[in-house]
Amino acid sequence: MQLKRIGILTGGGDCPGLNAVIRSIAKPAMNFFNVKVVGVLDGFEGLVEGRMRELTPADVTGILNVGGTILGTSNKGDPFHYPIEGPTGIRTIDASEQALENYRNWKLDVLFAIGGDGTMHISHKFSQMGMNIIGIPKTIDNDLDATDITFGHDSARAVATEAVDRLQTTASSHHRVMVVETMGRYAGWIALGAGVAGGADIILIPEIPFHWEKIYKAVLQRSKGAKFSIICVAEGAKPADGEIVVKEMDKKRTDPVRLGGVGELVGQKISEETGLETRVTVLGHVQRGGSPTPYDRILGTRFGTTALHTASNGQFGVMVSLQRRDVVPVPIIDAIGKLRLVSRDAQLIIAARSVGTSFGD
Ligand code: F6P
Repeated sequence: MQLKRIGILTGGGDCPGLNAVIRSIAKPAMNFFNVKVVGVLDGFEGLVEGRMRELTPADVTGILNVGGTILGTSNKGDPFHYPIEGPTGIRTIDASEQALENYRNWKLDVLFAIGGDGTMHISHKFSQMGMNIIGIPKTIDNDLDATDITFGHDSARAVATEAVDRLQTTASSHHRVMVVETMGRYAGWIALGAGVAGGADIILIPEIPFHWEKIYKAVLQRSKGAKFSIICVAEGAKPADGEIVVKEMDKKRTDPVRLGGVGELVGQKISEETGLETRVTVLGHVQRGGSPTPYDRILGTRFGTTALHTASNGQFGVMVSLQRRDVVPVPIIDAIGKLRLVSRDAQLIIAARSVGTSFGD
């Protein structure tokens, strides 16, 4: 297909590697395909409101290693449930036709939607409405199905691992229990990866509900030997007899639940029940900021260039995906059926248990 104008949008929470993907679509499009590239600003919000601008070669130069997204992003503008602030509070309307009209007015041949689960759901609906759309899987949580890994995850895991390493030396010096809370709403990949890489003694993830007594027992045992413990807890982890810890509900968000606080709870309970001196560190958005790792720059570049070639082949309604060694297009619908969660019998869980890590179960 002879592409003339293409659009790029980044949706949902930002993460390292977004600019690498933007660059890898825009550079070949401008240099080899002679195609105009339009940036949609602030995710789907910008598509609904018609906030877009044509990108120049200067816009996409020098951004490969830069964190965030030059286009801006939002996790609040689902066009199918578009939030409107009124006198009676927030209500939602269907603004999808308006978004489609903007896509048509800008004469886009294809829209590249870079995002996570929420972005892929929205992209699938637009694809059904006739928009030429190609998804590119992003999220630090790595919870998108139909790809072996999303870009952004490796960078977040590297930040979390460095934090665990740093906490270990201070934990050991003071003979303390150190709790580190990572992101990870429904999937515990960051906590698991950083926990294994950093040698955490206890890893708590959403997929394996934990028992308080098991945690107390593990830290008390460690206090007699190594005299310190590191606990890596994902924000979505919960006790078997309790609920996830919610920080806030925000109706404007595509996913209204804002998590956070389980690390503090774990620290408080350990200190109260065992008497051991405990400190809590919440990594938060540090995991989403800064420069992408080499792995994410490379994966992002492969995703972006494959997406552009897929569009020039006239194939739409797909998401580019890493399948073992190759990046290939798969139907977007395959990516939104279910989340990619850590399975209890995953090799990494077994490996962690084998070196003595507790999952509090
Ligand atoms: O989905 C990615 C993610 O970073 C989650 O791990 C986290 O729960 C959420 O986004 C935080 O969203 P916000 O940036 O809106 O606080």
